[in-house]
Amino acid sequence: MQTHEIRERFTNHFVKAGHTPVPSASLILDDPNLLFVNAGMVPFKPYFLGQQTPPFPSGTATSIQKCVRTLDIDEVGITTRHNTFFQMAGNFSFGQYFKEGAITHAWTLLTGPVAEGGFGLDRERLWVTVYENDDEAADIWHEKMGVPRERIQRLGMADNYWSMGVPGPCGPCSEIYYDRGPEYGREGGPVADDNRYMEIWNLVFMEKERGEGIGKDDFEILGDLPKKNIDTGLGVERVACILQGVDNVYETDLLRPVIDVAETVTGSTYEDPAADRADDIRFRVIADHSRTAMMLILDGVSPSNEGRGYILRRLLRRIIRSARLLGATGATMEKFMTTIMDTMEPSFPEIARNRERILHVAVGEEDTFLRTLASGTRLFEQTAESLKGKGAATVPGARAFELHDTYGFPIDLTLEMAHEAGLEVDMDGFEAAMAEQKARAKADNRAKKHGHTDLSVYREFVDSHPTVFHGYEDLTGSAKVLGLVSGGKLVNEAHEGDEVEVILDATPMYAESGGQMADRGTISAGATTLDVNDVQKVGKKVWLHKSTVAAGGLAVGDEVTAEVDAAWRHGARQAHSATHLIHAALREILGPDAVQAGSLNRPGYLRFDFAYTHQLSPDQLQQIELVTNRAVDADYEVNTIETTLDNALDMGAMALFGEAYGDNVRMVEIGGPFSRELCGGTHVSHSSQIGPVSVLGESSVGSGARRIEAYSGLDAFRFMSKETALVSGVAAELKAQSADVPDRVRALAERLKAAEKRVAELKAQQLTAQTADLVADAAQAGTFRFVGARLDDGVTGKELRTVAGAARDRLGSEPGVVVFASKDPEKGSMPFIVAANPAAVEAGAKAGDLVKLIGGYVDGRGGGKADMAQGSGGKPEGFDAGLKAAREELAGR
Ligand code: ALA
Repeated sequence: MQTHEIRERFTNHFVKAGHTPVPSASLILDDPNLLFVNAGMVPFKPYFLGQQTPPFPSGTATSIQKCVRTLDIDEVGITTRHNTFFQMAGNFSFGQYFKEGAITHAWTLLTGPVAEGGFGLDRERLWVTVYENDDEAADIWHEKMGVPRERIQRLGMADNYWSMGVPGPCGPCSEIYYDRGPEYGREGGPVADDNRYMEIWNLVFMEKERGEGIGKDDFEILGDLPKKNIDTGLGVERVACILQGVDNVYETDLLRPVIDVAETVTGSTYEDPAADRADDIRFRVIADHSRTAMMLILDGVSPSNEGRGYILRRLLRRIIRSARLLGATGATMEKFMTTIMDTMEPSFPEIARNRERILHVAVGEEDTFLRTLASGTRLFEQTAESLKGKGAATVPGARAFELHDTYGFPIDLTLEMAHEAGLEVDMDGFEAAMAEQKARAKADNRAKKHGHTDLSVYREFVDSHPTVFHGYEDLTGSAKVLGLVSGGKLVNEAHEGDEVEVILDATPMYAESGGQMADRGTISAGATTLDVNDVQKVGKKVWLHKSTVAAGGLAVGDEVTAEVDAAWRHGARQAHSATHLIHAALREILGPDAVQAGSLNRPGYLRFDFAYTHQLSPDQLQQIELVTNRAVDADYEVNTIETTLDNALDMGAMALFGEAYGDNVRMVEIGGPFSRELCGGTHVSHSSQIGPVSVLGESSVGSGARRIEAYSGLDAFRFMSKETALVSGVAAELKAQSADVPDRVRALAERLKAAEKRVAELKAQQLTAQTADLVADAAQAGTFRFVGARLDDGVTGKELRTVAGAARDRLGSEPGVVVFASKDPEKGSMPFIVAANPAAVEAGAKAGDLVKLIGGYVDGRGGGKADMAQGSGGKPEGFDAGLKAAREELAGR
C-alpha cells in the first residue's frame, strides 16, 4: 500500500466518524518556543488549553501534519526508525470522546479489513502500553478490544506521559506497537525491545497542564485542563514500512528512490539496509536530509547562518558531504531534489508549482558549499605538503578544527583525506578545540538569553493577545498598553529616557517585514511622548514598538495614541511600490528566470536581489529604468486583493522567495497583470504617486545573484539633480558643453597617458646620460672599477635597476661594480642597488653581500644574487659611509 493511500484511508476513517479534516499547517508556525512544528497537535494547542474555542462543528478534527524534529541530526541514519521529517496522522477530540473513543477509533482502523478501508493488520501482532496506573485504559484494551492482558504492558512517566517538552497541555498516553517478528529482536513486548516491537501510534489522553521543568519526566503538573481531550499521532512512514513489507523507513516508496539515485551518482553500493556500515549510513543521511530540506524550502525556509535557515544549511551540507564521501565528484543536489519531489508530490501537490524555486535554493547552496569545499581542500593539500616536507606525519588538531569550523569539513572527511595522503590526524587536539568552541557558544547563548533573543517573555501575548494592525487604512489610532518589555524582561512602567518595547492591543504602525522597513512614529498620552524607532513582529502576531521615552512616563494599562510619521510612511509606500515596478520591469527585460531573491525598501531607497548569472549591461539597466518610469507615468491603479493562495498563484502573482504563506493571502496589483505580487506591505494608490525612480546601478551578491539599487520619489529627484550639477561642474571646468564631456574626458585621458609615457622616456634618457658620465669617472677599488653615486630623488627602485644594469654593461670586461641609490620623496626611504659584472663576480664580488654591508650604514635591509641585489634604507645620510665601506671591502679582495 503506497504512502499516499495510507494517508487517504486515515483521513476517510475519521471523516466518516464526523471529524473535520484540517490541512497540515506550515512547518513554521508561530510559536516562540518551537523552531519547527514537531507534533500533530501543535496547531491545536490553544483549543486544548481552553484559550480558544475549536471551530469544528463536532468538536473533533483530523489532520496529517508535516513534522520536523532535528534535535539529533547526527544520529540520523544510524537507526532506521527515525527520520528528521515525518508525517503525523492524528485525530483530536476537544472535550468530546475520551479514552474509550480514542482506543476504539484506533483499533478499528488498524485491524479493519483492507476491503473496508482499514489497514488490515494482524491483531495478534499488536501490543499496547499504558501509563503505570492507568487501569481504565488497560481495561478498555482488554475488555472492549479483546487484547490479552499479557500484551498490555505498563510504563512510567518517561515513556507514557506525553507533553510537548515545554509548558502546555499534557497527559498520560497509551501506545500501540507492531511485532515485526523474531528476526528483529527478542521476545517480551515493547518493554523488552522497541526495535522488534515498533511503535506506530500514540494516543494521548490530554487532561493536564504542564509547567516549567526539564525533559520528559521532571516537570510540575499545574492542574486540570478545562476539558478532557484526545490527541493522537500515528507515524505514517512506520505504517508504510509495515504495509509495504519492508525493513525500515528508508525502504518505503518515499525514500528508497533517493537511495537508488545516490547509488548511481556516487558509484557506491547501498549494501545492507539494516547495517551500521559508515557508507550505508551516508546513503540514509542523503535520503532523509533531502526530504527534510525539500519540505523546509517548500515552507519558505532559506539557508542562512542562524535559526531555521541554519538547520536547513546543515542538512544540505550534510547531503553534499555524504555524497562526496561516497565518491561523487561534482554536483548532485539537483538529482536528489528532483527525485524526492517526485515521490512526495502525490501527497503534497503544492510541490508542483514550487519545483523551480526549491531547486534554485538547494542547488544555490550546493554551488556555494562546493566552492568552500574546494578552498578547504586546497588548504588541506598545502598542509599535507608542508607536513611531508618536514617529515611530519600528523595533521595538527588546530588545522583539522579550522577545516571544520571555517570550511565546514566534517572530521570524517578530513580523516579520509589524511588517510589518502598517508597522514594521521591529531584527534585529541581536534576534540579539545571543539570542546573549547562549544564552551564559547554556550557562554554566548547564555548571554543572548539575558538579552533580547529569549522570546518566551512574549509568549503570553502571542498566544492570547495578537496585535490588531489597522495601518493599511489609518495613520493614527488609540490603543491600550498591554505590555512593556525592558532589558528582556516584562516591566510595569517606563520613565523618561528609558528604552522600552511597547506592546499595544492595536497599532497603525507597520512592522518590518517583506523587505519593507518598519514605520517610525510616536506613542503619546497627555504629557507623555515616546519616539518609536523600530517596530518588529514576534511570532507574526505581536507588534513590538521599540521606543525611547522622550517625555513623561508610561504604564501597562494606559490608554495612548499611536501615530505613524506620515512623511516616513509616504516615502516607504513610494519605495515599496517602486520595488514592485522594478521587479516587473526586470522580468520583462531579462525574462522569467530573474527570480526575486530578496529586497529591502525604506523611504527614498530600495534594493532588489534576484537570481541571474550575468552582469547587466548599461543598456539593460537603462531599459529596466525606462519600463519602470513608464509604469509610473501610466498612473496605474494599485489594488490590494484578499484571496486564496491558489487563486492568486493562478492569476500569476509572484510569491516572495523564502516566505511562508497561509491559505489566504494579500495580493498587491499594479496596473492589473503588469505587476501582481503577494505582499503585506504598504503601497501608493496610483503609480504616479511613486514619483521618479532612478536606478543607481547593479552589482553581484554572491553566487548567481545580482542586486539593483534605486532611489524613489524626491530622493530620486535629488540624486538626478546632484548628478546633473556634477556634470555641469565638470563641463564648466572643461569649458565644454555637457554633451561633449565624455569625449573631452576620454581625449584628456589619452593625452595624459601619452604625456606620461614621454616623461618616462625623457627621464630614462637623462639617467642614461648621467650614468655615462659617472662611468667615465669610475674610481678604482683594488682590481675593481667602482661607480658609486646617489642619483636624483624620485628615481624608483625599478629605474635604478635598469640604469645600474646599463652602467655595469658600460664598464666593459674589467671587473666592475656599480652602486646607485635614490630617495623616495614621499616615504623618505632610500632604495639602492648593487650590480656586479661577470668579471667582478668571477673575482669574488657578491652584490648581495654588498647590499647587506651598505644596509648596515643606512639602517636598511635587502638582498639578491651575486650579480644584482637591491635594498632599501631608512637613513639616507649613512649612504656615503656605506659606499666607502663597500669600496674598501672590494679593495681588500
Ligand atoms: N502528540 C503526540 C505525539 O507527538 C501524539 O506523540
